[in-house]
Amino acid sequence: MQLKKILIQTYGCQMNVYDTEIMKRLLHPKGYSFTSSAKTADIILINTCAIREKAEQKVFSYLGRLSLLKQNRKKLIIGVCGCIAQNYGKRIIQRAPCVDFVVGTHGIFQLPSIIEQVWKKSDHEKVFVDFNDNLDEGDIQQKPFLESSISSFVTIIRGCDNYCSYCVVPYVRGREISRPPEAILNEIETKVSKGSREITLLGQNVNSYGKRENLISFVQLLEKVNHIKGLNRIRFTTSHPKDFNEDLIQSFAHLDKLCSHIHLPVQSGSNDILKKMNRKYTRNDYLKKIEHLKAACPDICITSDFIVGFPGETQKDFEDSLSLIRTVEYDSLFAFQYSDRMVAPASRYANKVDESVKRERLVELLKVQAENTLKKNNDCIGKKYQVLVEGKSKRDTGQWSGRTSGNKIVNFHAHENTRDLKATLVDVYIEEACAHSLRGVMG
Ligand code: 5AD
Ligand code: SF4
Repeated sequence: MQLKKILIQTYGCQMNVYDTEIMKRLLHPKGYSFTSSAKTADIILINTCAIREKAEQKVFSYLGRLSLLKQNRKKLIIGVCGCIAQNYGKRIIQRAPCVDFVVGTHGIFQLPSIIEQVWKKSDHEKVFVDFNDNLDEGDIQQKPFLESSISSFVTIIRGCDNYCSYCVVPYVRGREISRPPEAILNEIETKVSKGSREITLLGQNVNSYGKRENLISFVQLLEKVNHIKGLNRIRFTTSHPKDFNEDLIQSFAHLDKLCSHIHLPVQSGSNDILKKMNRKYTRNDYLKKIEHLKAACPDICITSDFIVGFPGETQKDFEDSLSLIRTVEYDSLFAFQYSDRMVAPASRYANKVDESVKRERLVELLKVQAENTLKKNNDCIGKKYQVLVEGKSKRDTGQWSGRTSGNKIVNFHAHENTRDLKATLVDVYIEEACAHSLRGVMG
């Protein structure tokens, strides 16, 4: 087979970024190389996100552009992978006939043989969307890494069994499947040996790690990762508040490498809406956990996700979200307008909220949070933080840039004639707070 160039276009969350890395690691030993240009690619793979309608629209408009490209380059192969592939299967090819094949979320491990099939046979199979309860990752750990990075992702659990009423994930990523601890530790050790200093453990709900397979618990896994030599920092995302337990809270107090940041998506501050969302906790349950966490780890930075305009959300429900934001004093947050997902039950709920009301609520919520963010960032002024340096600042190459343990971006000036600081931990005194970052000088 002639060797080919592949462009992988990635949309969506960190899990997709990680899956793209897996795809590259599987394809590279087969002789494929990678490009970032659609013009020079022989194969274009799109790793897609189905979480909201807007994410889907982005993918279909990209496919529209590719279809034009393919008019002049008949041999170009286009594959759609990931969550939209899983959700729509062959309907993607009906809507975008330029697509040659569709590979769902569990199919990525078979990608090399799928591409070979597409390449060799004119009457090849086109849709690969079977779920596989025993996800066979094969000898992925033996495949060399293509890119080393200071901060890397490692998936520990795939899928989700929570079925929040608005969410497409359980339908497109399947049931929860945890990877064996040995595979995870082995992967982290390899990544550290290639230069990673920070690892983010990934899962839709990391707290469920190992439960179904009766493996070690998530906290036990964290303890093992904490022992890995050469690793400086551990992060994880995402944690479901209903499973965020006292053991995990205490880990923030006693695991020295665990960063003082938690992303704990609450979605709403109203008990009625939380119930309709099937989140299985109340506002008060959530607040109690936050209180314990702040007591165990006083410098913890807390971030969250909110949905505005869930079906039936009244002005009072929305105000409950605003008051929760003021009470918790999040460091930052992500907020989204509710988006109907056909497979998820909330798409059939009554009392849908007008798009214009959703938009207004989103703007108001972000305004309230902007006050929190600025206050939290101002609180940092005059204090010293340890920063893991990621490289030169993108805006001002006279400065270095990195993150605090709490995940705040810091741009700073170094002493004159400083050595290369990339991948090192340095102390920085904060002098100025900006809307989304901090500025300081090296200590
Ligand atoms: N509409 C809007 N936001 C959603 N999210 C998940 N599903 C939807 C939806 N249907 C948000 C949640 C989740 C984040 C990843 O995306 O806030 O935590
Ligand atoms: Fe979706 Fe809920 Fe699972 Fe998160 S926990 S992925 S919001 S179903």
